[in-house]
Amino acid sequence: MPVVSDRVNAVSESITLKVSAKAAALKKAGVDVVGFGAGEPDFDTPAFIKDAAKQALDRGETKYTPTPSIIELKQAIAQKFNRDNNLPYKPEQITVGAGGKHCLYMAFMAVLNPGDEVIIPAPYWVSYPEQVKLAGGVPKYIRGEEKNEFKITPQQLESAIVPKTKVIVINSPSNPGGHAYTPEELKALADVAAKHPNVLVFSDEIYEKLVYDELKFVSFASLHPKLLEQTFTFNCHSKSFAMTGWRVGYVGGPKEIIDAINKLQSQMTSHITSFCQMPAAMALSNPRGPETIEKMRQEFERRGKHMWQRLSTLPKVTCVRPRGAFYCFPNVSAYFGKQDINDAVSFSAALLEQNHVAVVPGNDSGFDTHVRLSFATSMQQIDKGLDRIAEFLTRLM
Ligand SMILES: Cc1ncc(COP(=O)(O)O)c(C=O)c1O
Repeated sequence: MPVVSDRVNAVSESITLKVSAKAAALKKAGVDVVGFGAGEPDFDTPAFIKDAAKQALDRGETKYTPTPSIIELKQAIAQKFNRDNNLPYKPEQITVGAGGKHCLYMAFMAVLNPGDEVIIPAPYWVSYPEQVKLAGGVPKYIRGEEKNEFKITPQQLESAIVPKTKVIVINSPSNPGGHAYTPEELKALADVAAKHPNVLVFSDEIYEKLVYDELKFVSFASLHPKLLEQTFTFNCHSKSFAMTGWRVGYVGGPKEIIDAINKLQSQMTSHITSFCQMPAAMALSNPRGPETIEKMRQEFERRGKHMWQRLSTLPKVTCVRPRGAFYCFPNVSAYFGKQDINDAVSFSAALLEQNHVAVVPGNDSGFDTHVRLSFATSMQQIDKGLDRIAEFLTRLM
């Protein structure tokens, strides 16, 4: 009889999947569902990157490559880190994995021993705690307060660090909160981390290019001279280049652990798809890259502002203004106690069933009072969905 391992049994089943499965079933049955669930850009991958993949195939780049990727890609990433982030990583301090998610997972696997603690600010991306548990670690949460735009303070961070702390996760701009730290706020957190040289920092910077209101993005490891030895910087092509399906992510950090990640990957997936590697390098080095990203960023900024303004006018709903990424994360708890609604999951299920709008409950992100709405969809869909939400709330009142 097949028996699932304790390791996998310890991982939570995503409750959000239930809502997305229901949305998919409704759509299949012909219902006009407005989807605010997507965690990916609605733009296509830029043509110049797709052309580069076709050329890579025609050149025969279809065979095994070195585990951390071809040297051209590592060099392009090193240049990007130097140019955009003021991070002097050398190619040997970089490895490439199947998306940001895979890089994070391998890094947790490479550094955690059983019982090691990982500090995760909430609200958080759903995969951090589960990846930590899979690697034998223990997630420890710091709650970001809504009145502080979900951002944790240096005092909160300092008091959360204990002898068992192995890693601090920083994610700015953030999924699902939509918040982003200013350079000064991040510097204050960096100063705390630098006082604890035995604690590593995993800085998830995958939404780096999507910042709004003239906020300046800075890389965590660039904020204190000591942090380069403690910090791993994660990034990917998924969000900034609209390449979610390509599965290209990368991490820079101290060589010893990058080597350990390579050892692990060499026994898992070997490397990412060969013909995605040259296009990924080209995306980072071609001058058309920044132009394309900027166009998408401007459009996301316009939509995000619009969605946030509309959410803010809904009675008894509070919403932190998104400063980055493509999510609004409103608090809907004032409606708990109506019908059978008692948390974000039941709220999302009722909204989907009654008014056909799909949102992601915040339960898996540590906030069962909030729901996540992605604005990676058209203005027209945003307005249609918000009209329906307004109607739904009116009925609940
Ligand atoms: C905060 C955060 N980190 C990492 C990832 C993983 O990105 P990728 O699609 O490159 O694996 C996501 C994806 O949604 C994310 O939101």
